[in-house]
Amino acid sequence: MSTEKQKYTRNNPYQSRMLVNILMTDRDSEKETRHIELELEPGMTYTPGDAVGILPENRPSEVAEVLAALKMRGDERVLDHYKVEISLEEALRTRLNLGKLTRSSVTQYAKLTGDPELQRISLPENRSKAEEYVWGREFIDLITEYPGGITDPQQLFVVLARLTPRMYSIASSQALVENAVHTIVRVVRYVSHKRERQGLCSGHLGERTPVGATVPIFLHANHNFRLPEDTTAPVIMVGPGTGIAPFRAFLQHRKAYGHTGDNWLFFGEQRRASDFLYREDLEGMHKDGILTRFDTAFSRDQTHKIYVQDRMQEHAAEIYKWLQRGAYFYVCGDATRMAKDVDTALYDAVAKGCNCTPDVAQEYIATMKKEKRYQLDVY
Ligand SMILES: Cc1cc2nc3c(=O)[nH]c(=O)nc-3n(C[C@H](O)[C@H](O)[C@H](O)COP(=O)(O)OP(=O)(O)OC[C@H]3O[C@@H](n4cnc5c(N)ncnc54)[C@H](O)[C@@H]3O)c2cc1C
Ligand SMILES: NC(=O)c1ccc[n+]([C@@H]2O[C@H](COP(=O)([O-])OP(=O)(O)OC[C@H]3O[C@@H](n4cnc5c(N)ncnc54)[C@H](OP(=O)(O)O)[C@@H]3O)[C@@H](O)[C@H]2O)c1
Repeated sequence: MSTEKQKYTRNNPYQSRMLVNILMTDRDSEKETRHIELELEPGMTYTPGDAVGILPENRPSEVAEVLAALKMRGDERVLDHYKVEISLEEALRTRLNLGKLTRSSVTQYAKLTGDPELQRISLPENRSKAEEYVWGREFIDLITEYPGGITDPQQLFVVLARLTPRMYSIASSQALVENAVHTIVRVVRYVSHKRERQGLCSGHLGERTPVGATVPIFLHANHNFRLPEDTTAPVIMVGPGTGIAPFRAFLQHRKAYGHTGDNWLFFGEQRRASDFLYREDLEGMHKDGILTRFDTAFSRDQTHKIYVQDRMQEHAAEIYKWLQRGAYFYVCGDATRMAKDVDTALYDAVAKGCNCTPDVAQEYIATMKKEKRYQLDVY
C-alpha cells in the first residue's frame, strides 16, 4: 500500500460496487468458495499482501425474526454508537451483531431478564457452562428461549456487540487490475440448534450482494506480508484453500513487472475436480514459466489424506536448496492446524538439508524470521 494515509477507513468506508461475484467451486464440492471483484475509487491503492475490510449487514430475514421476537416494529428510533438517531431496523441490520452469541451478551441480557438460570451461567465460576450455551447460538435463540428481557430498543446497544468488519486477503495486483480489488470468500453455512446459520459477512457476500450492489469496504495494509524487495529473490508460497489469495496477487505482480525471481507454489484443497481454485490461471502461469514450480495436494482424491506439508516433505531437499539461495517462505490460510504442520515440515526440510542438530535447524529458521524471509498471513 502506498505510504499515503488512506482516505477510507472502517469508520468511513468506501461504498464499492460489486463488479464480479462468481462461484469458483463446482456443484459437487463440499464448499462454496467465491471469487469477488470490487471497484475502487481512483487513488485507492494497495500492495499485494494487504487485505480488504468489508462491512457486512445482517440478513433481512434474521432482522425480521428478531423484531418479531422482541414484539417491535422496526421504526422505533434509537441512537447508534455515535449517538446518531436511526431506526431500530437499521440498527439491527447494520450496527449490531446478531450472529454468534457472546458470553458478554448473555451476562447483560441476564441482568435485564432477571432469569435465575441465565444469571447462574453468567457467574465467573460458570464460564464453561456459558461457553457451552453460546456455542452455535445467536441472539435470536437467546430471546426466543428467554423472552421479555428487552423492553426499550436502546437496551440492545448494551446487550449486543457492535457489528465488525471482516478481513479478506487481497487476490490481485493493481499492476493488472488498476481500480479494482479481487478476493476469495468461503461462504460459511452450518446448522446448529435446528436452525440454518450463515457466516455474517461471507453470507452477505455470497447471497445478498449481486453484481452492481454496493458494499462498504476499506483497504488494510499488512506490512508483515510482502514480496521481497529484491525482485530476483526466489519465493516459496504455501496457500491451501482460500490461502491461495495473496499468492495470486504476488504472481500477478511479479509477472506484470517482469520480476525474475523464481516462484514455487504449494496449493491444496479437497478435490481436484471440484475445488481447484484458479486452476486455469495457475496452470497458465506454470506453463508460461512465471510459476517455476507448482505442487498440489488434493486431500480427498484418495483414501488417505495428502496435504501441502506432505508435498513439502517429498521435495524437502529442493526446498532446502531454494532456502540456501535466499528464498522467502510464505504461508497463508488456516492458522490452527495447517500453519503449524507446515512449520514442522519446513523445520524438517531444513534439518534434513543441513544435516544438523535440531538447535541449528531452529536457529536457521529463527534467522529466516529475523530477515523477514518467513512470513505468515494466517487466520
Ligand atoms: C487477515 C485475514 C485474512 C482473511 N482472508 C480470508 C480470505 O481470503 N477468504 C476467506 O474466506 N476468509 C478470510 N478470512 C476470514 C474472514 O475474515 C472471516 O472470518 C470469514 O469469512 C468468516 O466470517 P463471517 O462473517 O462469514 O462468519 P461469522 O459470522 O464470523 O461466523 C464464523 C463463526 O461461525 C462459527 N461457526 C462456523 N461453523 C460452525 C459450526 N459448524 N458450528 C458452530 N459454529 C460455527 C465459528 O465460531 C466461526 O468463527 C481472513 C481473516 C483474516 C483475519
Ligand atoms: N471463521 C470462519 O468461519 C472461516 C470462514 C472461511 C474460512 N475460514 C478459515 O480459513 C481457513 C481456510 O479455509 P478453506 O476452506 O479455504 O481451506 P481449508 O479448510 O484450510 O482447506 C484447504 C485444504 O487444506 C486441507 N487441510 C486440512 N487440515 C490441514 C492441515 N492440518 N494441514 C494442511 N492442510 C490441511 C484440507 O483438507 P481436508 O478438508 O480434506 O482435511 C483442504 O484440502 C481455515 O482456517 C478456515 O477455518 C474460517
